[in-house]
Amino acid sequence: MTEVKEQVALITIFGGTGDLANRKLYPSLYHLFTKGFLKENFAVIGTARRPWTNDFFREKVVESLKGIEEEGFDPQDFASHFYYQSHDVTNRESYVQLKDLSDELDKKYELQGNRLFYLAMAPNFFGTIASRLKSEGFVDNDGFSRLIIEKPFGRDLASAQELNESLRQAFAENEIYRIDHYLGKEMIQNISVIRFANSIIESLWNNRYIDNVQVTLSETLGVEDRGRYYEESGALRDMVQNHILQIVSLLAMEPPIKLTTQEIRHEKVRALRSLRVIEGEDVYKYFVRGQYGPGTVDGEQLEGYRQAENVDPDSNTETFVAAKLMIDNFRWSGVPFYIRTGKRLAKKATQIAIQFKSVPMNLFGGQQSLAGNVLVIHIQPDEGITLHMNVKEPGQGMLTMPINLNYAHSSPDGMNTPEAYEKLIQDCLNGDATYFSHWDEVSLSWNFVDKVANVWSNTKEHFPNYTSGTMGPKEADKLVAQDGFEWFE
Ligand code: BG6
Repeated sequence: MTEVKEQVALITIFGGTGDLANRKLYPSLYHLFTKGFLKENFAVIGTARRPWTNDFFREKVVESLKGIEEEGFDPQDFASHFYYQSHDVTNRESYVQLKDLSDELDKKYELQGNRLFYLAMAPNFFGTIASRLKSEGFVDNDGFSRLIIEKPFGRDLASAQELNESLRQAFAENEIYRIDHYLGKEMIQNISVIRFANSIIESLWNNRYIDNVQVTLSETLGVEDRGRYYEESGALRDMVQNHILQIVSLLAMEPPIKLTTQEIRHEKVRALRSLRVIEGEDVYKYFVRGQYGPGTVDGEQLEGYRQAENVDPDSNTETFVAAKLMIDNFRWSGVPFYIRTGKRLAKKATQIAIQFKSVPMNLFGGQQSLAGNVLVIHIQPDEGITLHMNVKEPGQGMLTMPINLNYAHSSPDGMNTPEAYEKLIQDCLNGDATYFSHWDEVSLSWNFVDKVANVWSNTKEHFPNYTSGTMGPKEADKLVAQDGFEWFE
């Protein structure tokens, strides 16, 4: 059990009327409240341009908790800690008012000057807000000042660098918490335990025993109403630069000498540094891009990406990426890490499949082929692990049959997985940055992704090239087939 340590802080959310705040942040804070991590000594300021009153804001907060109310914890009581401040991020006067309110709440709730700023809004203002927080004296208080920043962290290395520099003028690296919500997922955090707490796993975790690794993040939803953002991003920047490379670094890293933030990050950075840079013509050998066209899913006719709102009817933006990554170090030399992500695919599933090498020869009958050993880490919607093995078919003879050893969180006596955001906010309040991205990781990831993006932006692909409701373009299958493998479904 995690020790319940009460957190004392003022949490200021920029983008307090937004979708993320309503869907994720308020419910997460409520959970921290019902679990006793937040009690009396906390306050939340929501800011946005709209002229809301405190009462109206609190109603919205209570509404966001529909269906998750816990007995004995009155949502109204929770919401009474919330304050609204209409705010124009570019206007100095707005910060003066916000500072007054912050100081007042600091006294009222005895917050010891602890401040957490959460930027949950359009990224073009991140730099402006950070520098104002500094110039208007928000961060010169007795307690801690921490900044949580949502993705996207830039759109390439240059813009990420620029953003980072502007944040660093106000906050030190150890005060900046760059969110990658995948790092808050239960089974992503479990990767280190599965690897480093099990000698039978870690001793096989290398190129002598592993054939290939597959990371799949597939989604059934299309781009929905995010066309404007997505046109600028595409699947490479939206999913590969952050979530997928983070997962790959956790899978590939060496064991840290201690389980501290610094040591873990150090190893992740080393893994990312070993990632083979793919550029020029090689991009076409190692990467496949796709864009969904119309299709019928569950009897419903769905439009293609190019027909979505705010999307160029001739768009060259990819909604699917598959790639073969190589990690050039002693442990992984020669082992492909295949990655795959896309929108409007056949199923919503995030999983990692570790395919082990075949036994040297099949002793059990000429015709009968032996299924390979695969360790599958299910991240969502199921959470758990499955080990695919072979056993003897009961009865006479020596026939083999494949079986699965399963561990699933969703089993009846399983645990309740806390929402990723809840864990990450709690970590930040605790000053634990382990599951946030360090600048070195972000910059290495952009450096890798930029080379691919540059090649793609200079050539037009024959889009759309996959039908909604399928598992992407056939080139993605060829990518693994040419090495003698297939995607693990
Ligand atoms: C976000 C992307 O980072 O992750 C979205 O911007 C994507 O495009 C989402 O849909 C997927 O997250 P999850 O937790 O639903 O797998």
